[in-house]
Amino acid sequence: MKNIFKIIMLLSIGLFLNSCYYDAYPEEEISTPDNDGGEVPTEVSFQIDIQPIFGKCVGCHGGNQNPNLTEGNAYSSLVPAYVKANDANGSKLFKKLNDGHQGGVSNDKLALIKAWINDGAKNN
Ligand code: HEC
Repeated sequence: MKNIFKIIMLLSIGLFLNSCYYDAYPEEEISTPDNDGGEVPTEVSFQIDIQPIFGKCVGCHGGNQNPNLTEGNAYSSLVPAYVKANDANGSKLFKKLNDGHQGGVSNDKLALIKAWINDGAKNN
């Protein structure tokens, strides 16, 4: 009889501690921004995230070869001729890099370009 009582006590304590443990979780999630751990930041910036990717392109796309990907010219050269806002798969820039044009770009960078286009291809 004594043993059964002990087991019930232990179970109750266990359940009690467990319930406290769970309470703590939702609060933590609220204070955590939803962009941590993701591959792509919630808002991709053309200036900060996309323009630097073209560093390896400007040797060829420095003005004579379209599109002109130099800083200050890349956006107007790309949109709308090579980038269809909100439609990465229908954009020549994305298709070209997806096909590995001149060595292409890393998957992370390709994902950034895709997110930027599908987020409206803003000049941000
Ligand atoms: C070694 C030179 C070279 C490099 C580096 C290069 N390109 Fe190109 N690119 C070309 C040439 C040449 C063409 C035209 C022939 C073709 O379509 O492949 C071209 C075509 C393109 C086109 C299509 C143009 C059109 O009017 O159809 C896009 C878009 C493009 N490049 C983007 C890029 C991007 C973005 C990068 C960097 C990640 C890059 N290129 C790197 C030489 C290069």
